[in-house]
Amino acid sequence: MEKFEIIATTIFGLEEVLAAELKEIGATNIEILSRAVKFKGDKAMLYKCNLLLRTAVKVLMPIKTFFAANEQQLYDNIKKIDWNDYFSYNRTFAIDGSTYSEVFTHSKFVALKSKDAIADQFREKYSIRPSVDPVNPHIRINVHINDRTVVVSIDSSGAPLSKRNYRLALTDAPINETLAAGIILLSGWDRKCDFIDPMCGSGTFPIEAALIANNIPSGRNRKFGFETWGNYDEDIWNEVKAEADSRIINSEVKIFAQDIDNQAIDIAFANAKRAGVQDLITFDKIDFFHSSHDTGSGIVVMNPPYGERLQVDEITNFYQDMGSRLKHFYQGCDAWIISSNYQALKNFGLRTSRKIKLFNGPLECRLQKYELYQGSKKASKIETNSAE
Ligand SMILES: C[S@@+](CC[C@H](N)C(=O)[O-])C[C@H]1O[C@@H](n2cnc3c(N)ncnc32)[C@H](O)[C@@H]1O
Repeated sequence: MEKFEIIATTIFGLEEVLAAELKEIGATNIEILSRAVKFKGDKAMLYKCNLLLRTAVKVLMPIKTFFAANEQQLYDNIKKIDWNDYFSYNRTFAIDGSTYSEVFTHSKFVALKSKDAIADQFREKYSIRPSVDPVNPHIRINVHINDRTVVVSIDSSGAPLSKRNYRLALTDAPINETLAAGIILLSGWDRKCDFIDPMCGSGTFPIEAALIANNIPSGRNRKFGFETWGNYDEDIWNEVKAEADSRIINSEVKIFAQDIDNQAIDIAFANAKRAGVQDLITFDKIDFFHSSHDTGSGIVVMNPPYGERLQVDEITNFYQDMGSRLKHFYQGCDAWIISSNYQALKNFGLRTSRKIKLFNGPLECRLQKYELYQGSKKASKIETNSAE
């Protein structure tokens, strides 16, 4: 099959893990960009990427790159693309614009100008234009501007790949599925030692961990944009899905989802059920400050409250107590904590062994690793240290 260029977009900080995922599924010519990875693949690879990539947000197929110094040049160049090659006037379309440029400062404006160019081309050629459907279009077009370089792509994913369709019920401040999977992959979890999320909320970390440990495709419960394309090949798609299903394993690894809130546990269970992994996770309503993990190994991944609704001294004490609980009751584990509250993290009271900058939505966050040594090592290695 013919190979072409593909771009998988991602969240800041997950570029390397996405490149590793791509390497594993056989992509070639992999090149890391900012919040994206470029590579080559054929149609089967395009389908595979959508089904399997846990840390990609969108899988794009670039169709034209050009230079535009002003809005007229943007409009003219978009209009030069023969859009009838990609869809016809009786289909619906939508445009996503993104811009990192001093000339084009508003992504909505970029999307609007591009939409006008496409609609005008159809109207001039056929006296009729396709309609825009921002929610459920037949074809989604992506216009990305970096300085004055414009890349126009067809979006093969449709809804962002973070939408795995298992999380219909939400608790407060759920973490994005792509980010949760990325954090688990960044942690280097060996998929053998126990995985514990003591503040699981809607269950995103434990569910993503169960999917990862069992090789279950992240996209198995959803539809993709390419399924409505004119050149969609159902045979290839069925082969890609069958091959991915044949790689699913029955892992024995233990995954724990805990939260102080009864309702959160119910929601996490319902979400896990939708993902088909409820039997692979142990759910427990427990206050973290009364919990422990005493097998001597394991990985703790948690997204505690960042404290927007608490007094400063309350959240400072909360983080201090968290550090202390981990130190005394989770010995032998590695703990990974993501938080936007840098001040509170400074009160954790444990030595940070890794710090990674990430964004949880618009919030700049730090993912911090703590190694919770056992016994005598603890006394010599653990000391109070600041997060910065
Ligand atoms: C930011 S949310 C976690 C969101 C979660 N990662 C998700 O994707 O939905 C923080 C969670 O911590 C829980 N929590 C707060 N204090 C707790 C405690 N003492 N013990 C256990 N869970 C606690 C809250 O109930 C809430 O569900």
